[in-house]
Amino acid sequence: MKADISTLHKSDILILQRHVNLFACQPLRLVLSLRLRYILRSTLRASRMKKAKLAAKKPATAAKERATRSESVKILISRDRIRRRIREVARQIRKDFADEPLHLVGVLKGAVFFLADLAREIPGEVSFDFIAVSSYGKNTHSSGQVRLTRDLDSSIEGKNVIVVEDILDTGMTLQYLLRIFEQRNPKALRVAVLLDKPSRRLVPVRADYIGFSIPNEFVVGYGLDYAERYRNLLDVGVLTLANAESASAK
Ligand code: IMP
Ligand code: MG
Repeated sequence: MKADISTLHKSDILILQRHVNLFACQPLRLVLSLRLRYILRSTLRASRMKKAKLAAKKPATAAKERATRSESVKILISRDRIRRRIREVARQIRKDFADEPLHLVGVLKGAVFFLADLAREIPGEVSFDFIAVSSYGKNTHSSGQVRLTRDLDSSIEGKNVIVVEDILDTGMTLQYLLRIFEQRNPKALRVAVLLDKPSRRLVPVRADYIGFSIPNEFVVGYGLDYAERYRNLLDVGVLTLANAESASAK
């Protein structure tokens, strides 16, 4: 039977060598030692070749993986424009409500930065709360189903409520939220969105305060995410998913 040397390890051969030295007679020891040395060299050569083959394969595989996951973000609205526009929107809100207290309700998680910046630009009495809904999951397409995942901490009855949302897209989320909030008898109920994609509207909802109207592109940054990523970008950018689905083709 022929031994398959590729399955032998260096340590096995060294053990065999030791046994040959201990138990074989002189002439046999010489023959076996030569044979084992040959096997050892062949084993080492085979393992070196295997390693080289693997190393040659790696860059191609890594490049392929990168390509299938390749995503790029092109700035659409810079952080400076966002800051300037939020200041204007804040001024408008305060003008509309003169000296009245305002209660901002941020829609988690996309609206966190917008609410944080907006609240600090509105002079006078401002309180805020958060609500969470889910409608997208790990996707660039809306599932069309809105679900409340976290309710407000306090009542909005008799308050001047401004719902603060990152983006108004199909309108399903805001329609759902406005329906809930109206039943809770606020004094006033308004909507402020950082971004508006009017061409995507499926239900008749409109915002009272709009940061920017944008074309039908999937955007990320400044709180907006794709599969929970990119929220921390300072600017708003258009996300492109190369080699996979196009993020902007919604
Ligand atoms: P709507 O219910 O279709 O109006 O969608 C509103 C929600 O969908 C927003 O609050 C966002 O969380 C998410 N969304 C809509 N368009 C985009 C986008 O372009 N980028 C990231 N999230 C988006
Ligand atoms: Mg949102």
